[in-house]
Amino acid sequence: MELTAEQQALIERIRVLKQEKQAVILCHNYQRPELYEVADFVGDSLQLCIEAQKVEARMILFSGVYFMAESAAILNPTRKVVVPTNKAGCALSDMITAEALRERKKLYPEAAVVCYVNSTAAVKAESDVCCTSSNAVAIVRAMPQKQILFVPDKNLASWVQKQVPEKEIIPWEGYCPIHERLTKSFLLKAKEKHPKAEIIAHPECTDEVRDTADYVVSTSGMMKVAQKSTATEFITTTECGMVQRMKQTLPNKKFYSVCSVCFDMKKNTLQRVVDSLETEQDQVIVPPEILQKAASAFNRMFAIMQAHDYEHAPSRPQKTSETGTKRDIVAIR
Ligand code: 13P
Ligand code: SF4
Repeated sequence: MELTAEQQALIERIRVLKQEKQAVILCHNYQRPELYEVADFVGDSLQLCIEAQKVEARMILFSGVYFMAESAAILNPTRKVVVPTNKAGCALSDMITAEALRERKKLYPEAAVVCYVNSTAAVKAESDVCCTSSNAVAIVRAMPQKQILFVPDKNLASWVQKQVPEKEIIPWEGYCPIHERLTKSFLLKAKEKHPKAEIIAHPECTDEVRDTADYVVSTSGMMKVAQKSTATEFITTTECGMVQRMKQTLPNKKFYSVCSVCFDMKKNTLQRVVDSLETEQDQVIVPPEILQKAASAFNRMFAIMQAHDYEHAPSRPQKTSETGTKRDIVAIR
């Protein structure tokens, strides 16, 4: 990507600071593209959890949203975890509290609580097992209980229910407002313009969008689909950062998108990374009693993945299916 002189100077400064501070930078796919330049690893939530566990350096700077950094602190508790700003939240994770979940659990005493990682550490601590967008189907399928209280994303819950009809999924009524804005009609317009393109949707999208897509996969799953497919054109429908990342990574393929911007994901900037490395703030601290219980929910997820020889790969192709507008809310590019 083309970098300005100012960005280049900040990148140089970050590289020096990383050495000085013995820091590793983990970065989510939705981050600003200039942040990929300083990242040691860029990926989806599951890959970032796996990478966080492996970090041996003194410090992890997590460039993503807060729950992701909290997950890193849970998975590698002896490392110092910092974020460029502790104000980068996730609207979906804010749709449930630990207290509300405790109340709901009383109504379904037989149910297993499966918690999407887009949730706070306190909510994870109330759950039996965690899952991410890339392994949710496998995790739910592997649970011994028939009844599953799936929190907090109703769209991911309904996607999983379709793949795992033998379970009774009770969804929490949360959703990602960024994905909820992406409609089937936007997608059909994009398909009309690019009839040869395959449509790849994130499972946080609504039923009608997922049903229009050729593939429903996590953010890194999108990249793998585009790499493996014989198609040369794709319409991705998720947060807008993803299409930039795909264009950058696979320059020989064409990408269009029906997307929406997650402004929380964009709060991290090169300058904030510099400040954060210099001051070692904002530090992410998870209280020990919550950390232990949340770690158990993660460990159950990893145990299921291991037992089922789960490869971090896109889910089966679904032969059934990015962009910003005026304020970059929804666009077709
Ligand atoms: P992935 O795990 O697919 O990267 O999704 C994270 C997320 O926040 C999607 O909105
Ligand atoms: Fe949360 Fe949605 Fe932003 Fe992902 S895109 S971090 S689910 S608000």
